[in-house]
Amino acid sequence: MPNQPQVFIANRSLTITVNPAYSLLNNYLMQRIPVQTLCGGKAACGRCRFRVLAGRTHLSPVRPAELARLGETLIAAGWRLSCQSHALRDLTIELPEMDEELEP
Ligand code: FES
Repeated sequence: MPNQPQVFIANRSLTITVNPAYSLLNNYLMQRIPVQTLCGGKAACGRCRFRVLAGRTHLSPVRPAELARLGETLIAAGWRLSCQSHALRDLTIELPEMDEELEP
């Protein structure tokens, strides 16, 4: 299918094709990719965060709720929320493992 971005999850050596109409979190859930979430996609828990290694501008713009949850420092370091982000073109990311401890 045309215009289906590919997301390379570098720390899992896994490439998935995503639908840009859905958030990355929903793409992961639909494809049974293990991802942390406590709030179910409301930008409240921060558990779905991931770090962009390449292709930062290939994501949908940072939303106010995402900025409020992560803060400017993490955003500047390449972190985003899967539940608030849509991949518009190919990118390379790092997605924390299910049991990985995250800062609040
Ligand atoms: S799923 Fe809770 S912040 Fe994204």
